[in-house]
Amino acid sequence: NDTRIAAISSAIRVIPDFPKPGILFHDITTLLLDTKAFKDTIDLFVERYRDKNISVVAGIEARGFIFGPPIALAIGAKFVPMRKPKKLPGEVISEEYSLEYGKDVMEMHVGAVEAGERALIVDDLIATGGTLCAAIRLLGKRVGVHVVECACVVELPELKGRDRLGDKPLFVLVN
Ligand code: PRP
Ligand code: MG
Repeated sequence: NDTRIAAISSAIRVIPDFPKPGILFHDITTLLLDTKAFKDTIDLFVERYRDKNISVVAGIEARGFIFGPPIALAIGAKFVPMRKPKKLPGEVISEEYSLEYGKDVMEMHVGAVEAGERALIVDDLIATGGTLCAAIRLLGKRVGVHVVECACVVELPELKGRDRLGDKPLFVLVN
């Protein structure tokens, strides 16, 4: 596993001062170009979650849409997109959250997840943790839905996003 994780880590391109000065951007598009590292990324998540009785994988737009669906297919779970506002045509529930600059809203279809379901939330990266917190709150609005864990490829530990998740477990491959 350590060998696979090291290769995943080095396949992620790190770009200083993008999109703004002072931000160290972790670019997962280079990981997607490395067929072995991309497959290993999905496989490592699948190995962790295949026997955890997860019925739904919730992926966060946009980069959570890259990693969530292959995990969902492999573990036999459905995939639910958590989208930017005004993209979903059905009845939605929404949750507001703050970004480094300004606010954003995340939305999910009301009928997508039912009581009694066990959910895994997937995104590419946790920085401040604001995005994952909003996803946890959003799923929490559906009574009886249990968020088993949040899973990310990358964590920026110095931003302490993990602390904001409270008692929700977070699993990351690279930090
Ligand atoms: C990035 C990243 C995570 C989020 C992490 O998404 O993909 O979703 O920021 O930041 P946080 O932990 O501080 O909330 P972004 O909103 O830039 O958009 P994208 O996924 O659509 O590219
Ligand atoms: Mg994102």
